[in-house]
Amino acid sequence: MRLDKLLSHAGFGSRRDVKELIKKKLVTVNNEVVRKVNIKVDPDKDIVEVNQKQVIYEENVYFMLNKPDGYLSATIDNKFPVVTDLINGYDHYDLFPVGRLDKDTEGLLIITNDGALNHKLTSPNYEVPKTYYAEIQGKVTEEDVKLFSQGVVLDDGYHTKPGQLKIITSDHLSKIELTITEGKYHQVKRMFKSVDKEVVYLKRIKMGEIKLDESLKLGEFRRLNEIEMNYCHSL
Ligand code: URA
Repeated sequence: MRLDKLLSHAGFGSRRDVKELIKKKLVTVNNEVVRKVNIKVDPDKDIVEVNQKQVIYEENVYFMLNKPDGYLSATIDNKFPVVTDLINGYDHYDLFPVGRLDKDTEGLLIITNDGALNHKLTSPNYEVPKTYYAEIQGKVTEEDVKLFSQGVVLDDGYHTKPGQLKIITSDHLSKIELTITEGKYHQVKRMFKSVDKEVVYLKRIKMGEIKLDESLKLGEFRRLNEIEMNYCHSL
């Protein structure tokens, strides 16, 4: 690929900024000072350095974010903050969230620039299970568990696929975990609405084999680790 594209992608600014670096003789490829902007390099073989520091080129990047309440699962909005605003230092990648969490939903959101992975994790054909922790107004019952296991009918007539509902505590406020394999709009909230109950707090805790890292505070992110990346590649 073109050296200026590689450097721009690796965070060294626009192509014009890269041109300046080259002009200042700060860029080397395999220890030779670069004099032309439009040379080509092989990111897997050539050693590219800026200011004597090796540039690690990554085409795709993968993050786990603990999404806080108040952020839209979008890349741009003129009214509310968006989740990609939280991934500081990676503005030069075209990052987007994998699937959507409602503005008031917290928890696990994968952020990447890899469209193929996005498709696999969100397409209904792959049936990747997503697990949510939720707090529900009122008592969640064994009858709800049974109904969810058969799939419920949402307000628009859609019959959901089976959901696995686990009651953690059941009281005037119930705590539950629900695993579903699809992602219809407001699905968890609407599934509870179908049994006359209201979700008052919602957090995604797992997607496929990727679990929310509980050491991440709300709004914090980290790279996916090797095990998580291996899972993504296995899809
Ligand atoms: N289901 C919902 O209702 N909201 C979410 O954010 C995710 C799943």
